[in-house]
Amino acid sequence: MNIILMGPPGAGKGTQAANLVKEYGLTHISTGDIFRKALKEQTKYGVIAKYFMQFGHLVPDDYTIQMVREYLQENEFSKGFILDGFPRTIIQARELESIAKEFGFEIDAVINLDIELDRLVPRLSGRRTCKECGASYHIEYNPPKVEGICDVCGGELYQRPDESEDAVKVRLDTYEKQTRPLIDYYTMKGQITNINGDQSMEYVFKDIKASLEVK
Ligand code: AP5
Ligand code: ZN
Repeated sequence: MNIILMGPPGAGKGTQAANLVKEYGLTHISTGDIFRKALKEQTKYGVIAKYFMQFGHLVPDDYTIQMVREYLQENEFSKGFILDGFPRTIIQARELESIAKEFGFEIDAVINLDIELDRLVPRLSGRRTCKECGASYHIEYNPPKVEGICDVCGGELYQRPDESEDAVKVRLDTYEKQTRPLIDYYTMKGQITNINGDQSMEYVFKDIKASLEVK
């Protein structure tokens, strides 16, 4: 089963992708995580991505598409994958369709986490991310057992540089202009399932599971 998980910054894509990995054994492909790893390792994609990511802008389509293409080519996905944060523009969505044809896979579900943008700022400002494994926490809604330490791997938790007030504003604005049109795109194709993202993490996951089980 291959899934696209969509939603604005802070909607809970990473949180729900982790649940889907546990439940169905799918592979989590987050373009944000891949870019952050590339940045840490100073690879060519990391160097390019840094300038766009720190201010909350999208990395240009051609680099992003090339990176995803390579990632899909180089990795095995025996039980399928979850695309988190890709596609984010109509151009990326069209390219994904040609990559799917070329590589011989299908997208079985497009899940959109639906939530008002004004609910996202507290989620983003309270988020803490593991430096080692990328697990995501929230100081209030999903705190780690020990403050500042990852439950999964014991790594140190930090606040992402694109969580400054200015960068968050740009990310939300970018979402409205460049990514929201994808909702209509997938609605017209009859592929989208809208899930209420403004409920507890457990209820969001229950709804996602229910939508996948009718497929
Ligand atoms: P990316 O890493 O994809 O960031 P994002 O889309 O902005 O999403 P986030 O990771 O911030 O949020 P999320 O929806 O995963 O929420 P989470 O589960 O963590 O992208 C970063 C950057 O990379 C982009 O700005 C761009 O520069 C670049 N990039 C990436 N992909 C690209 C592409 N395709 N094209 C071009 N550029 C690209 O949850 C957030 C917080 O809320 C957490 O603290 C969590 O614990 C909490 N929370 C989650 N669910 C709930 C709930 N139900 N109730 C209460 N709290 C909750
Ligand atoms: Zn960790």
